[in-house]
Formats: sequence, C-alpha cells, structure tokens
Amino acid sequence: MTARQQPKNLWIGRWGFVLAATGSAVGLGNIWKFPYMTGEYGGGAFVLVYLACILCIGIPAMMTEIAFGRRGRGSPIDAVKRVAQESGRGKIWSGFGWMSMLAGFMILSFYVVVAGWSLAYLWKALSGGLQGGSVDDMAAIFGANNANPLSLGAWSTLVTVVTMCIVGKGVQEGIERSMRWMMPGMVLLLLVMIVYAMFSGGFGEAVTFLFSFEVGKLSSAGLLAAMGHAFFTLSLSAGAIMAYGAYLPDSKSIARTTFTVAICDTLIALMAGLAIFPAIFANGMDPASGPGLIFMSLPLAFQQMPMGSVLQVIFFVMLSVAALTSAVSMIEATVAWLTERKGMSRKAAAWSSGIVLWLLSTLAMLSFNLGADWTLAGKNFFDWLDYLTSRWMMPLGGLGLCLMAGFLLRDEIFRDELRLSRWQHALWLLMVRYVSPLGIVLIFIDALGVMTI
Ligand code: PFF
Ligand code: NA
Repeated sequence: MTARQQPKNLWIGRWGFVLAATGSAVGLGNIWKFPYMTGEYGGGAFVLVYLACILCIGIPAMMTEIAFGRRGRGSPIDAVKRVAQESGRGKIWSGFGWMSMLAGFMILSFYVVVAGWSLAYLWKALSGGLQGGSVDDMAAIFGANNANPLSLGAWSTLVTVVTMCIVGKGVQEGIERSMRWMMPGMVLLLLVMIVYAMFSGGFGEAVTFLFSFEVGKLSSAGLLAAMGHAFFTLSLSAGAIMAYGAYLPDSKSIARTTFTVAICDTLIALMAGLAIFPAIFANGMDPASGPGLIFMSLPLAFQQMPMGSVLQVIFFVMLSVAALTSAVSMIEATVAWLTERKGMSRKAAAWSSGIVLWLLSTLAMLSFNLGADWTLAGKNFFDWLDYLTSRWMMPLGGLGLCLMAGFLLRDEIFRDELRLSRWQHALWLLMVRYVSPLGIVLIFIDALGVMTI
C-alpha cells in the first residue's frame, strides 16, 4: 500500500480552508444566477427545493471531494489517481480528475466575461454612465456594452490578469491572504445593502417572495435547475474544492467544514435575494426578468432610490469581488497540476494557464459581438461552454466521484478521512450511492431532452 501522501502546502490560518472554499462557492452563482432563477421558477417553492438539493446532493458530494483531495494531497488528477491506486484500482480513474480540471478551466473562460460585465458596470456606475429612464434604456446600455469587443475584452482580460496575479503568488501568500480581506469586505457590503433594503420599501414583499411556499409553483423544470445549480453554486466537480481540499490539515473535520461552507453559501444567496428583490418590488418591476435582472432591472431600480448611484457602486464592487474569489479557485487545479507534474514555478504555471485561458475567454467574449453568429445547433461559443460544463461535465464528474467513493474504492479511506459516527457514515454512503446519482441521472435525462413531465 502506498503511504499517505505528505502535504506540501497547507492553509495556515484556522479559517484558511473555510475562507477560501467559501470564496470559491460564493460568486456569480449566488448573486447573479440564484436571484434570477428564483424569480423565474416561482420564489419560495424553488428556494425550498434548492435547499433540499444542497442538503442531499451538494453536501455529501462536497465531503467526498474534500476527502479525495486531502487523501491524495495533490491536484485533482493526482489526487483521484492516488486514492484509486490505494484501493488497488488503475489510474484510468483519474479521468474524473481530468474532467473536473477541464470543467473548472472551461467555466472560468466564460466566468471572466460575466465578471468583466461587473467591472464594466462598476466603472459606469462610478462615471455616471448607468442612468436611464426605462428598462429599454438599460437594455440599450447592456447591448452597447457587449457590442464593443475591445472594451468588453479589456474588462475580461483585467479579470484574468488579477486572477493570475493572486494564484501566481501561491496558496498561502496569494490565495489565503487575499481571501482574508476580500471575504469580510464582501459580506460587509452585502449587509449594508440589506440594511438599506429594510428601510426602503419592498422588503416585506421580498421576504414573502423568497420564503412563502406555494405547492402550485413547484415545477419539474425548477427541480432540475435547482439540482444543477447545487453543483455550480458549491463549486463541485470543477476541481476547485478538491484542489483546496488537498491543502486541508489532517486535524480538521471535513464534515464540519463542509457544512460551514454550504451554509455560508446558502445564506449569502438568500441575502443577495434580500438585497436585490426589495428594490425590484419597490419599483414595481418583474422579478422574473431573467439573466438581465441584475444588469438591467436592478441598476434602474437603484437609480430611482435615494443614494442610488452609491448603491450601484456598492453592488458592483461586491459582485466583482465575489466573482474574483471564485475565479481564483477555478484555476488552482490547473496551476497545482502544472507545478507538481511539469515542474513549473507557481508564477510560470499561472501565466501559462492564463494565456490559454485568455484565448478561450476571448472566444467566449466574441459571442456577444463579432462572433454572435458562430453558432452550432443554435448555441454560440459562450452558451456551449456553459451548457457543456453545467449540464454534462459537472454532473458527470459528480456522478463518477460519488459512485467511486460509494462502491469502488476502499471504504476505510473514507472512514479515515470523514471520521463520522457509524450512522452518519451510513447516511453519507446512502447519499453518495443512491440519492446523488439518481438526481444526477435526472439532470442527464433532462439535458437529452427526453423528459416531458
Ligand atoms: N460556485 C461559484 C458560484 O456560485 O458562482 C461558481 C464556481 C466556482 C463553479 C468554482 C465552479 C468552480 F470550480
Ligand atoms: Na455559489
């Protein structure tokens, strides 16, 4: 049997892993996607289904990923390979590590474009360019922002450069250190916005919208969206959590850290809803306005309120920071792999993956202007990246890791790493063997378009 891998890098601070993993989890998924999905899928009914998915699928899968990372003490590719080998299995199983790493890379290449929107909007808010009288005016601003490949590309390039600077500095000096001020800063801004929302009208309506459960509004489309989003929002099967788990000290409890991260992620998603929807309701707008919710309706709603331009600035600073802390985590797997296996320095690894990333993200960015008609089966490049990762690669990676942990690999490894009580371990096994796989298979069936319920 191979001896347990010795760690090369570990989080230094007591909260190192929790901060970094929460930074990874909390991002555009919480502040951009969750509110508009909740708006589209009917409020409280969707929220409840989403919470169930986090609990039954997300949390067991996250525990599994961290266990793989810590046991294998390496990039997702090496970690999965080592854990498989420790169970007497071939290295072919590291394919799931490869897929995770690739998924993280692909997600990042469209994520930086959306993060770029956020920076562009911050700039507009600061320079007074985010004024308009109607949703149509705001749509025109959004359209103009996307139409210019040079400025749009400049903003996503800026996100890429900052991300690589942080990652290039190393796990402790770059990632852990920056998370120590970015995360509290982000939460503080969110709190300021919620306090404002409490006193500015529309808050009660927002609370009712988010938390009142109406059975009639439950839909199978909402259920599937909630399952898929549980993976995305917790950064699962994208290499990020596994790469960070490789730096988790042995003394830490995986279950406890997982619950902390999942609870923080969920609270922040709900808090984002409480910061955004009051303004929407106070101005009589439609909560179901889709992906444009925070780039069109919200800036317009803010602008009609006292201190509106300050609110716009606070919101887009918060959104940009949230996006950046997630972006950093998506590239860590690749950087860790390049340093371990190709002998590169952190800096060289960060910049070389940054260049490849930049090329891909430029293609994604062009989907909004020059390359709008480079489509395949009705989807442009940006849509393909999103579709392939969230509908196929993340669920497939999650399915693979759960089934490996549940059936294929030696159970002692997971007993050792998870250190749960007997019934807790049995519950975890039930989830990774049957509950998560079933949910994931439903996502596939839906992606194939054969589901008509
Ligand atoms: N969890 C992030 C969000 O909710 O915005 C997205 C994400 C981060 C996905 C890191 C995947 C990942 F590896
Ligand atoms: Na999230």
